[in-house]
Amino acid sequence: MNTINVRMEIPGPRSLQALQKQLRQESTAVSYPKRLPISLEAGKGCYVQDVDGNVFIDFLSGAGSLPLGHSHPELVGEVIEQADKLCIGLDFPTPAKESFIDAHLSMLPEEIRNAYLIHFCGPTGADAVEAAIKLAKVATGADEIISFRGGYHGCTNGALSLTGNRAMKKNVLGKMPGVHFFPFGSTSTSAASAVLNSNQIDAALLLESALEDANSGLGNVAAIVLELVQGEGGVYIADKGFIERVYQLARKFGILLIVDEIQTGCGRTGTWYAFEQYGIEPDIFVTSKGTSGIGLPCALMFYKKSLAPWPAGSHIGTFRGNQFAFIAGSKAIDVINRDAILHNVCERSEQIRVRLAELQHDFALLGEIRCLGLMIGVEILNPVTGKACDVTASKIQKRALRRGLIAELGGRDDTVLRMLPPLNVSPQCVNEALNVLERVLFEQTNAIEEIH
Ligand SMILES: Cc1ncc(COP(=O)(O)O)c(C=O)c1O
Repeated sequence: MNTINVRMEIPGPRSLQALQKQLRQESTAVSYPKRLPISLEAGKGCYVQDVDGNVFIDFLSGAGSLPLGHSHPELVGEVIEQADKLCIGLDFPTPAKESFIDAHLSMLPEEIRNAYLIHFCGPTGADAVEAAIKLAKVATGADEIISFRGGYHGCTNGALSLTGNRAMKKNVLGKMPGVHFFPFGSTSTSAASAVLNSNQIDAALLLESALEDANSGLGNVAAIVLELVQGEGGVYIADKGFIERVYQLARKFGILLIVDEIQTGCGRTGTWYAFEQYGIEPDIFVTSKGTSGIGLPCALMFYKKSLAPWPAGSHIGTFRGNQFAFIAGSKAIDVINRDAILHNVCERSEQIRVRLAELQHDFALLGEIRCLGLMIGVEILNPVTGKACDVTASKIQKRALRRGLIAELGGRDDTVLRMLPPLNVSPQCVNEALNVLERVLFEQTNAIEEIH
């Protein structure tokens, strides 16, 4: 399984059968297979095989949870060995957990390594966000939260309340009160999407004026919550100046800064954590997708020791002691260090950016390209209007699948083609994926021309 091999229309017969069965048996809220209609059988590295034997490049990577690709052999070896020893350990210390903690702390910049405590959360990212909200409220005695337009923080009640996507929240009554949304200061200058961009607005000034204004309607703000790259929101990269000012405002007004590194963490942006690139020290940060390296659930909250202690049992959950995730996660960090994989992230990011820029030159379907490390987003445009276009984006995603590339959509109305390759992706695999994209853009351009 080391090259694309798609021999039939997608879905193939066995996938179709599985998808039909899924429709009968599973919740109507099933999501990915509606856009990517395949049934998965196996994965190895950057490639995944469906039940019909078709092989695809997988640049969805378990929604970013496979930093070393599918079933990395060294991580699998560790997991198999662990299975015979101990599977779950609640929040007791165990050898696997101890080495995992040491490895995770070693990822922090030296000067702040001793400043944080780690809280093991229920295994999803959303639970880590819940823990962060709760801790911020307990530590400050305040209860309001500032969040940002375009942000995504998960589907539990508090996390959803902080999320920008209005369609996801529609008809969900009883969301967490006291959340205020502000525009996100990003590096984007795109005029194609509905996002306010940094040419149009000084996002930090708006936030500052609300915090200064006695009549702004804000109550007691416990925390500012943000992503440094809004992943699901369409790969909007936070502007450095914006983050510096938000950081200063948080300090000035005694508000805690919570950085959601669930998607950006564990090397995805080229540094272990994205906040390192912004020169800030969050009061709290959360991470989960990349922690085990192999897609096993494990969510972490790091918080400053200086925050008031919260009592035993303040945020518990049965599945916080996944020994497989711990043992695989420690090994993943060893492998990333040993194989200089963060360096690879930067090199492949540049390879992708350059090639996408060439494609953007050749195809009017491509708008702004946004990359930080291996978080990659490309605006898909209607070539006639020059506006972001969900219909074209969906067609490109489907055509890419048919040609052997799994990519995701995100952003406003799903108009951004997103790619989250494994961090150890090879230059050859990147090339193969972008050759597919080029072919697909060519086909889609011709299809549009035929219509006109
Ligand atoms: C930035 C961010 N926060 C939170 C979450 C929620 O994580 P989970 O799906 O594991 O609950 C996600 C998931 O995509 C995310 O990207």
